[in-house]
Amino acid sequence: MCGIIGIITNSSAKLKALEQLSKLEYRGYDSAGISVLENGCIKTYKSVGYIDKLKQLVTQNQDNNTTAIAHTRWATHGKATLTNCHPHLSNDSTWAVVHNGIIENYQTLKQNLLKSNIKLKSQTDSEVIPNLIKLSHEQSIFSLIDACKQLKGSYALACINKNLNNQMFVAKYNSPLYVAQTTDGVVVSSDIISFSGKATQYYSLDNNEFAHINNNTITFYNIEGEIITKNATLLNSIATNVELLDYNHFMLKEINQTPELIKQVYEFYSNKNQTIDKLHKTLANINDIKFVACGTAYHSGLIGEKFFNKYLHINTSTYVASEFVYDNLNITNKTLCIFISQSGETADTISALKYAKTNGAICVALTNNTNSHLAQLSHYVLPILAGVEVAVASTKAYNCQCMCLYMLALIFSNQDLSKINSQINSLSLSLKNPNEALIIDLAKKVKNYKQVFFIGRGIDYVTSLESSLKLKEITYINSIACQSGELKHGTLALIDKKSLVIVNITVPSLKEKSINALYEIKARGAQVIVLSPFVEIKNMLGSKDIFIDLNNLSQDYAHHLSVSLMQRLSYYVSVFKGINPDKPRNLAKSVTVE
Ligand code: M6R
Repeated sequence: MCGIIGIITNSSAKLKALEQLSKLEYRGYDSAGISVLENGCIKTYKSVGYIDKLKQLVTQNQDNNTTAIAHTRWATHGKATLTNCHPHLSNDSTWAVVHNGIIENYQTLKQNLLKSNIKLKSQTDSEVIPNLIKLSHEQSIFSLIDACKQLKGSYALACINKNLNNQMFVAKYNSPLYVAQTTDGVVVSSDIISFSGKATQYYSLDNNEFAHINNNTITFYNIEGEIITKNATLLNSIATNVELLDYNHFMLKEINQTPELIKQVYEFYSNKNQTIDKLHKTLANINDIKFVACGTAYHSGLIGEKFFNKYLHINTSTYVASEFVYDNLNITNKTLCIFISQSGETADTISALKYAKTNGAICVALTNNTNSHLAQLSHYVLPILAGVEVAVASTKAYNCQCMCLYMLALIFSNQDLSKINSQINSLSLSLKNPNEALIIDLAKKVKNYKQVFFIGRGIDYVTSLESSLKLKEITYINSIACQSGELKHGTLALIDKKSLVIVNITVPSLKEKSINALYEIKARGAQVIVLSPFVEIKNMLGSKDIFIDLNNLSQDYAHHLSVSLMQRLSYYVSVFKGINPDKPRNLAKSVTVE
């Protein structure tokens, strides 16, 4: 959702900040703004809508500016308007601030500011911050520290003062913020992808930490105002590579990265790992395992649940994070909670983690961002290893999450991991060689449907859920996932000869019953697409039906190929409908509000 950029550089701060801001577009936003120090005053530009609009507003020909902060805003407190857009200025225009997070006590702070005759212009919670900083009368890091002591909630902040050229003050509490010396000067960002190709290492601020950037020097402080030393983290340039290369969209690039990533996950989890060893030992005292996540990550949890229940024999179940806190669940110190999140920033998942921790559970973050807030709050952190995922629709991260959970199920049940090497290779090869022509052909047909059904049993139902989410998310076609056995308890009423039903059949023990459901649909005249490794099913289909062969993959692996093909199908449908699959309407990559 919201994104922060700060830059101190030798020239063209404005343009460099905007270039950096564009890299954060993928996170989702509805307005953008920038403040730049020019000739002893703060000039601020704002626009509602895409950053390209903001770029047109900003004067391109002045390059003698060296200090800028910029922001992409996803409206929460107050609509997407120019007044609510960041940066926000103190009422005397001495301070400009960009803020990510939510200030929970902003109403009280607003009332207090009114008593000092400071009336705020916007409806945001953020505008209190520059005014609190200004009230401290100093013009230093201590003004920011004093202001932050009054804030309740979460924040990542970058601030500039009109009298302090080449200086910036930053703070972090429960919302990510990073600083790095880059080839462009010092860059502050809420996302490490800003440093890709521009830095070799970066600093990750912890809660209640602050930094003062003065020209090229970064000094870190704690909330007591004492200088602290921080260790830099090496930047993994492969993981943060966000170039499109020859692709038109990140989504297709990311789907195509999956075959290699699956192998990497297998190799990483096959090697000895202290965290996994420790976690394995704690299982002796665990009564139940709970996976908690949102959206696609929730679906990977459901896949994990199938494998944990199959191999581990510890009661395992999966919960939607936004419901978890309200379900009156029995959580004790014998509960292991695994929170799955690509971003590690999802607010609902973080709240669920805090709740589980308070109730004594052992908490594990399975995340693609091992520096994230989710990771910092957890007892154990395990990586997803998918590399940066830019497209809003999660693809490679989903497959990696499923693979990580599968590996954990095998490790915790003491299986011989070398035995699955050849199956991993077959899976990777199948993912690498999809029948692209068939998928493109199908996409041309699917794009004309207003509604699509996905059905399956057991793990095939989970695949249906994820395939259905992908289709609706980036094509805006209504899609419904239904357990095959549940069809005749309601959904079958919707099926007629105009319907399209996509059927997953990958589990030998469920094959017969799944075929019954297939006949039920065929009897209503619907068009079907079947994804299965069981080629004999082909003979049961009519001439207009389509069979997609899942290459003889066994039941633990076929779901990966099925979902990957449906990700690809959704991608092409989206493109054929003229939608940008990387940025579906109304959705953000990281959902940092509950
Ligand atoms: O970053 P997270 O994995 O916590 O995100 C959870 C969901 O918001 C996310 O998976 C969402 O459902 C995807 N956009 C779906 O493609």
